[in-house]
Amino acid sequence: MEGPVILALGGSLLRPEMAERHQWLESVRDVIANHVANGGRIGLVIGGGAPAREAIDLAKPIIDDVAALDEIGIAATRLNATVVSQMLESAGIDVCPGIPSDTNSAARALNAHAVVVMGGTRPGHTTDNVAIRLAIESKATRCLIATNVSKVHDKDPSEHADARPIDYMTLQELQKIVGPPIHGAAGTSAVIDPIGVQAAIDHSLALAVLDGGQVDRLAAALAGESFHGTIIEVGE
Ligand code: UTP
Repeated sequence: MEGPVILALGGSLLRPEMAERHQWLESVRDVIANHVANGGRIGLVIGGGAPAREAIDLAKPIIDDVAALDEIGIAATRLNATVVSQMLESAGIDVCPGIPSDTNSAARALNAHAVVVMGGTRPGHTTDNVAIRLAIESKATRCLIATNVSKVHDKDPSEHADARPIDYMTLQELQKIVGPPIHGAAGTSAVIDPIGVQAAIDHSLALAVLDGGQVDRLAAALAGESFHGTIIEVGE
C-alpha cells in the first residue's frame, strides 16, 4: 500500500482575516474527497490560528510558564482539528473518529481510515513538528507544510522588502534560515518550526512549503504533480 500524504494546514489559514474562509474550507474538503476517491490517504495536522492567539493572549499576563501556555495552544489546535474533522465526516469521507493525541496512534489510525485529522500533541514544538513526526511514523510519500506564504524566503518577507523566494533548497539550507532546534515562546512562529526541521534532517524526510490558501496548488501537491511552492530536498 502506498504511504499517505501528510498535510499541515497552518492555523493562519483558518483565521477570520482570511477572505472567504468558508469557501476555502469547502474547496479543501472537495480536494481531500477527490484524493480519497482515487485511493489516497491523508494525515491532516491543523494549527491553532485565532483561538490559540486569543487564549495565549488571555493567559500570558497571569501564567508565567511556557509549557502551560503551550498546553493552551495545543487545546486550540485540537479545537480547529475538530472543526475540520467534523466537516469531512459530514461530507461522508472516511475520517478517523476523534482527534488522536499523539502521532503514534494517528499513524496507526491511518491504516484503518482514509483520513486522520489531528492537532498538537505535547508542549515544546508546533504542529509543523507534529506533521513531520507523523510523516516519519506513517512512512508518508510526501510531507506538505501549507501556510500563508507562497514560498520559503531567504529572510523574513514581512520585515525585509528585498527577501527572495526560493524554489528548491536542502534541509540544511532551510535550517540556516530558521535557526537551531529551540522552542520559542508559545504562539511564535518561523516559516517551519526549527524543531521539525531538525527531525526532518535526522530522518531524511523531504518537505514542501506552499500557500494553502491557493487550493489548486494544494490539489497539485497532494497528487504529486508540480506546484508553485518551495521543495526542500534531503541534502548530504
Ligand atoms: P501552531 O502549530 O498553530 O503554532 O500551535 P504556530 O506556528 O505558532 O501558529 P500558526 O502556524 O501561525 O497558526 C499553536 C501553539 O500551540 C503550542 C505552541 O505554543 C504553538 O505556538 N503547541 C502546538 C505545542 O506546544 N505543541 C504542539 O504539538 C502544538
